[in-house]
Amino acid sequence: MRKKIVAGNWKMNKVHADAINLATEVIGSSYDGSVNLIVIPPAVFVSEITKIAASSKVAVGVQNTSQFEAGAYTGELCTAMIKSVGAQYALVGHSERRAYFNERNEVLAAKVKQVLKDELTPIYCCGEMLEEREKGNHFNLVKTQIKEGLFHLDSSQILNCVIAYEPVWAIGTGVTASSDQAQEMHAFIRELLTDKYGADTAQSISILYGGSCKPSNAKELFLNKDVDGGLIGGASLNTSDFIAIANSF
Ligand code: 13P
Repeated sequence: MRKKIVAGNWKMNKVHADAINLATEVIGSSYDGSVNLIVIPPAVFVSEITKIAASSKVAVGVQNTSQFEAGAYTGELCTAMIKSVGAQYALVGHSERRAYFNERNEVLAAKVKQVLKDELTPIYCCGEMLEEREKGNHFNLVKTQIKEGLFHLDSSQILNCVIAYEPVWAIGTGVTASSDQAQEMHAFIRELLTDKYGADTAQSISILYGGSCKPSNAKELFLNKDVDGGLIGGASLNTSDFIAIANSF
């Protein structure tokens, strides 16, 4: 059985007191426990939040990591540091990293490798921009993102990855992919995984949907057989919305 996951990507929001408050609320709230709940705060708060989450079922992740092991890379955080403060997950290749920080599939492949090397779980993000969907190029684009970012891994490594499909046109816009659009792309991604790694492996990998997911649409999205949960932006900044999404399976 694949893991059901709801992860909250806080992006570059919250100052210290608000971040600790939100984490404490989420960790202390009642969700039905049938999903793996992950909070992904700004890195500066991760160490403190992993301590608050220590005896709970909530896991903590980071939004970005360096592709390098350690050394003279001013401003970067490496996976060993992230691991050492108790985080378990790392986003790789969020569309905002791709768009504003010029992260290419080749660099993301190196990040995935580094994340796995330090025994963190990468949540590898993919997804097309609106113009690519309008041109009918969305499947090709996602295929390239998946192949170039992940297919250097062997079967045992890919089993430790989570994939998030986030159509860029749905992120922060209030426009959600329809349930059919989400299922169609998730099934396509699983087919790519099946071709490369075989059905058993492909069936074991969780694929999350992200993009304006909220309490009002989560249930319908999560009902799809290839949608294993959500990567939530805006709605993860509000405890009751985030928990309502987590309780939507
Ligand atoms: P929104 O839920 O705000 O659309 O953001 C989605 C996202 O980018 C999560 O990583």
